[in-house]
Amino acid sequence: MKWYILSSCLILSLLIIFVMNSTEVFFDRSKIPADDEQKGLKDQVVIRFSHVVAENTPKGLAAQKFAELVQKKTHGKVRVEVYPNGILYSDTDELKALQDGKIQMIAPSYSKLTDIVPSLEVLDLPFIFRDDRHVKAIFTGQVGRQLLGMVDQQQIKGMAFWSNGFKQMTSSQTPLIHPSDFKGQSFRVMPGKVITEQFNLLHAKPVVTSFNEVYQSLENHKVDGQENSISNIYSKRIYKLQKYMTISNHGYLGYIVIINQKFWKSLPPEIQDEIQNAMEETTVWILHESTKMNTIQLKEIKDSSPIQIHSLSNDEKKEWMKVFHPLYRDFNDEKSNDLIKKIQNTK
Ligand code: LMR
Repeated sequence: MKWYILSSCLILSLLIIFVMNSTEVFFDRSKIPADDEQKGLKDQVVIRFSHVVAENTPKGLAAQKFAELVQKKTHGKVRVEVYPNGILYSDTDELKALQDGKIQMIAPSYSKLTDIVPSLEVLDLPFIFRDDRHVKAIFTGQVGRQLLGMVDQQQIKGMAFWSNGFKQMTSSQTPLIHPSDFKGQSFRVMPGKVITEQFNLLHAKPVVTSFNEVYQSLENHKVDGQENSISNIYSKRIYKLQKYMTISNHGYLGYIVIINQKFWKSLPPEIQDEIQNAMEETTVWILHESTKMNTIQLKEIKDSSPIQIHSLSNDEKKEWMKVFHPLYRDFNDEKSNDLIKKIQNTK
């Protein structure tokens, strides 16, 4: 009996020692392999990035790519949450939300920032960009840097220019081949003096609406047509509501990526560097991918819809340019004229 009690005590003690040893693994964090993402969760910086287009667009995909790159480069210390399709804010209120610090990043088309940075208007001039190579040279070169510098005000900081694509004209009424074809038709436009004036010169009626309202405005015949990149015409199914499209490449839809200034300044320099690196990488990516996407989606439109597509000939383009010429003359300040010259002289 005594022998039995003794051996039971021994087995029990061994069991207790074994259990204590193994539980130590659970309670002593130094024995767990390090996991930055878990450890830093409570200190993680979150960037809320809001935009208004679909996810399968150049901007939608670039925002996601940027989020992935930031996560990787900062080892999870910064997390970018992307809110597409205007689910948080529409294009009419996203800038105010950014300035108020409710969100940290947005990437509106530069036309939407011309109220606070009028120099950006030169980028909306019809036929100012020759081709995608020219766009790239301007967005990533000296002019781009100069314009980004002008944006650094009013609680915002300019990070980069992102590309979407050349704008094309569509209508439910008539083919848009000669300037006279526009007469009397109404067109949805983005805000911006140059864009509005462009339609006035065509004797058409420009109607400013937010991007979220474009489909409905066309569906309810509040407007006859609109201008946008192929990517937006495709992803928002605008082509389904329009009978005619002209590949005019008359304007360029580009974005300016901006961040809340106060938030930016609150970040440690090494984190700022990594975010900048992620931004540069994403910018190189979108400049290439946006061209590809617009080409593929134009083919999809051609293959899947009865919309009549006309490509502007050189002579027709000259007719349009003649009508738009006064827009270049309207810029009578030295700063804008200097920018126009620099853009035109950039190879
Ligand atoms: C538009 O309003 O048509 C565009 O600026 C939308 C966008 O962000 O591409």
